[in-house]
Amino acid sequence: MLISPDNYTIYIQPALDDSGVFTSWLNQHQYSYVYVLCDDNTLQYCYPHIKQFLPTHTCIEIPSGESEKNIETCKYLWQQFTDAQADRKSLLINLGGGVIGDMGGFVASTYKRGFDFINIPTTLLSQVDASVGGKLGIDFNGVKNIIGLFQNPKAVFISPEFLSTLPFEQLRSGFSEVLKHGLIYNAEYWHQQKGNAVQLNTNWRAAIEQSVLIKHDVVKKDPFESGLRKILNFGHTIGHAIETWSLQNETQPLLHGEAIAIGMICEAWLSNAVNGLPANELEEITHTFIQLFGKYPLEKIPLTAIMDVMQQDKKNSNKTIRFSLLHAIGNCDYDIQVSDALIAEALTYYCTLS
Ligand SMILES: NC(=O)c1ccc[n+]([C@@H]2O[C@H](COP(=O)([O-])OP(=O)(O)OC[C@H]3O[C@@H](n4cnc5c(N)ncnc54)[C@H](O)[C@@H]3O)[C@@H](O)[C@H]2O)c1
Ligand SMILES: [Zn+2]
Repeated sequence: MLISPDNYTIYIQPALDDSGVFTSWLNQHQYSYVYVLCDDNTLQYCYPHIKQFLPTHTCIEIPSGESEKNIETCKYLWQQFTDAQADRKSLLINLGGGVIGDMGGFVASTYKRGFDFINIPTTLLSQVDASVGGKLGIDFNGVKNIIGLFQNPKAVFISPEFLSTLPFEQLRSGFSEVLKHGLIYNAEYWHQQKGNAVQLNTNWRAAIEQSVLIKHDVVKKDPFESGLRKILNFGHTIGHAIETWSLQNETQPLLHGEAIAIGMICEAWLSNAVNGLPANELEEITHTFIQLFGKYPLEKIPLTAIMDVMQQDKKNSNKTIRFSLLHAIGNCDYDIQVSDALIAEALTYYCTLS
């Protein structure tokens, strides 16, 4: 399957070089040199799948994990390009999950005012979400994704073959974005996918295609998030705050999708309280995410810690916290102001679930 936004192409196919698509793309583009950015896991599990299709190249490895998505790692990468005398006709291939894609794209787009990069996303989360939409960046001073820019890759090559080595928790984390796409945009997709929530043995190719189409459609209408694109933040206002606290305070921090799943339950509660989401749909959403992720002891996070992060959240305008909230499953509104008291009630709703 091929999706062609304005100036790049997203290829979704069972294996990377089916029909020679990847190699012919590289041949057409005649880059002066190719760099591949990997983390320790993608070097071990994913690089062997792509190596045979690459011209002469250099592999740059960084340690895995969100804690690496910072300015120190960027400095290391810029130094690698400087040492190698990389020019503006180089290509960077981001081979990995959202951390590699967000940071690799950022580094490539800023080195010598930018050289080309492509994404080969290897986690479900990056295949259905992070690799599409042009948001690049890094975390700074404990705030996630606060430094960055909008810039599209030259191409995205998505292939479910990489998912075979992905740990279950990572797969499940990405699946929460799949469910989000159904909740905000397509009720039928939600109903199809929520059944898979029990076993996670879905047809990934079909889910990836549908999710990428939804994300692409939203981003096309509002590339710079001045309006509609905000619906993609459903679950993320509270979810990001929980994720940030967990990253700073827990030895085994929540994964992005795990935090967002909690956020979606709380924000579904807010949707019911202020935006007309029917009570039975709130129950359905709550049940689906609890069944998939179990219950997290949210009561251990002080309310003030969650509120503080939300106040800093870059998505807020005029210092008020605004939410993207469901009106019904498949239908999401944005820029809805909610009082601190209701936010506290939404968190309490989660805490009192059994
Ligand atoms: N740019 C965007 O629009 C956007 C959207 C959503 C999320 N994000 C960002 O994406 C990041 C999260 O992405 P993620 O969940 O992919 O995290 P990640 O990149 O940290 O990958 C998760 C883990 O899986 C490992 N891994 C990757 N592919 C593998 C494979 N095929 N087999 C085995 N292990 C593999 C990685 O080494 C890592 O340990 C966050 O930083 C988030 O802010 C960005
Ligand atoms: Zn997300």
